[in-house]
Amino acid sequence: MMEKKISVLVGSLRKESFNRKIANELIRLAPKTLKMEIVEIGNLPLYNEDIDTNSPKEWTDFRDKIKNSDAILFVSPEYNRTIPGALKNAIDVGSRPAGKSVWKGKSGAVVTVSPGAPGGLASNHNIRQAVVFLDVPIMQQPEAYIGRVNELLLEDGKTVNEKTEKFLTDYMLAFEKWINHF
Ligand SMILES: Cc1cc2nc3c(=O)[nH]c(=O)nc-3n(C[C@H](O)[C@H](O)[C@H](O)COP(=O)(O)O)c2cc1C
Repeated sequence: MMEKKISVLVGSLRKESFNRKIANELIRLAPKTLKMEIVEIGNLPLYNEDIDTNSPKEWTDFRDKIKNSDAILFVSPEYNRTIPGALKNAIDVGSRPAGKSVWKGKSGAVVTVSPGAPGGLASNHNIRQAVVFLDVPIMQQPEAYIGRVNELLLEDGKTVNEKTEKFLTDYMLAFEKWINHF
């Protein structure tokens, strides 16, 4: 299969984020055709249409990185049953100026991760809702609601257990197939 560039957006900004750890595991386990890179979103000023005639450099750099990728993998927690503000802000920044959205023409998938049993299900579907509107076809199966994440990591605090490793490996194989449809 052809090599593809994947931007990974992590919805948590905290250093010891479970989501970042799972994102790193997804990168480690991905097929070699996928060139995956975490694109940071914590430095993006809050979206404000008033300053979009002279966009902050952080916005233009972020938009360029998304433009230069083939597909997007969202890995996010759920905050108060929906999308964390930092991730929603990144989605909004990429969607503007009107008619120049950098999301158009990308495909993607959404993984949500939580210490809670439902695995961020509400956030997962809210992310889908926003990006489907932005014309990003999202992989439907397999779904990834990774609950009780604190029980899935080994003692090093970084690596997932064997069963989770198999799930994440299969997920990335399905993702590779999915994005090659486009
Ligand atoms: C503001 C806030 C709201 C939260 N709301 C939810 C929630 O609705 N559902 C959930 O499963 N966990 C919720 N949590 C707990 C997070 O899942 C937990 O803090 C998780 O570790 C965050 O992801 P991270 O480890 O990648 O930072 C919330 C945490 C914060 C800080």
